[in-house]
Amino acid sequence: MTDMLDLRTLDLTALDRTALDRTALGRTRPLLVHTRAELAAARAALPGPVGVVPTMGALHKGHATLLRTARSDNRSVIATVFVNPLQFGPTEDLDRYPRTLDADLEVCAAEGVDVVFAPTAADMYPGGQPLVRVDAGPLGERLEGESRPGHFAGMLIVVNKLLNLTRADRAYFGEKDFQQLVLIRQMVDDLDLPVEILGVPIVRDADGLALSSRNRYLDAAQRVAALAVPRSLAAARAAAERGAGSDEVRGTVLDVLAHEPSLQLDRLDLVDAATLGPVDPLRPARLLVAVFAGSTRLIDNISLSQLED
Ligand code: PAJ
Repeated sequence: MTDMLDLRTLDLTALDRTALDRTALGRTRPLLVHTRAELAAARAALPGPVGVVPTMGALHKGHATLLRTARSDNRSVIATVFVNPLQFGPTEDLDRYPRTLDADLEVCAAEGVDVVFAPTAADMYPGGQPLVRVDAGPLGERLEGESRPGHFAGMLIVVNKLLNLTRADRAYFGEKDFQQLVLIRQMVDDLDLPVEILGVPIVRDADGLALSSRNRYLDAAQRVAALAVPRSLAAARAAAERGAGSDEVRGTVLDVLAHEPSLQLDRLDLVDAATLGPVDPLRPARLLVAVFAGSTRLIDNISLSQLED
């Protein structure tokens, strides 16, 4: 049996990590760290390139897909789990946002994450509210920014800090939060942050609903009603492919949503996918929808490649 692995004599660090399901730190499970000092020590031991997946926890298959993508691109993966108070408005769901660290660690373990950084608010903001802030600029005031003033500035501050603390080579974000992804790319370009940003397509349940930590707030009837959102986006894409212009595409979404009166439309935006400004027929467009199902706000979006006007 000369070709069998003898675990007692092997140098684990010299092995292909996947052969023995070991993390880059030689552990069988992710290392959980809470403070920036612990993170710095763990980071120093990680082989590069390092990918980071910032999250607010309550991990689902959408997050798992980001982790898997990071895992396949990099030698080491850090996941961050932090419900960032700075990006929640006074009437938003900061207190009721789900906190499920044990389950999140299981997801991270299954995806081969090396280090999980789960700081407290005091770890992240030891001086309380940061005095120097990131301004999200005009892109942050548009669209979702109109409905959620201050949200994108708070989000960019924490993403900036997480990129600095993890010193990641690559960072992964979902297209589910499309404006967030555009703003993070813009920040990295404008402020010359030494990291590559990668966008990951929206992960959906089998019935089409975009996965979200907030879906757990939906009761059975709301869950069914919420399916009108992906249905409306699919109908809009079909209309665009038949040659419909902007008004008709928007009308298609409104028609489908009108059949679900329990959903309240909060936003419907059809914009240039890169600038979030007015659509340009020669460039890819993005259709973004936000609805309320009861008090739960759901967002979704879809790319539209061809629009007549
Ligand atoms: P969170 O909502 O936990 O999302 C973490 C990452 O997962 C984001 O990049 C988000 O776009 C992505 N994601 C969530 N649902 C997804 C889905 N169904 N398909 C694909 N990707 C999905 O977004 C945040 O946290 C925060 O704003 C954060 C960036 C962590 C800063 O606090």
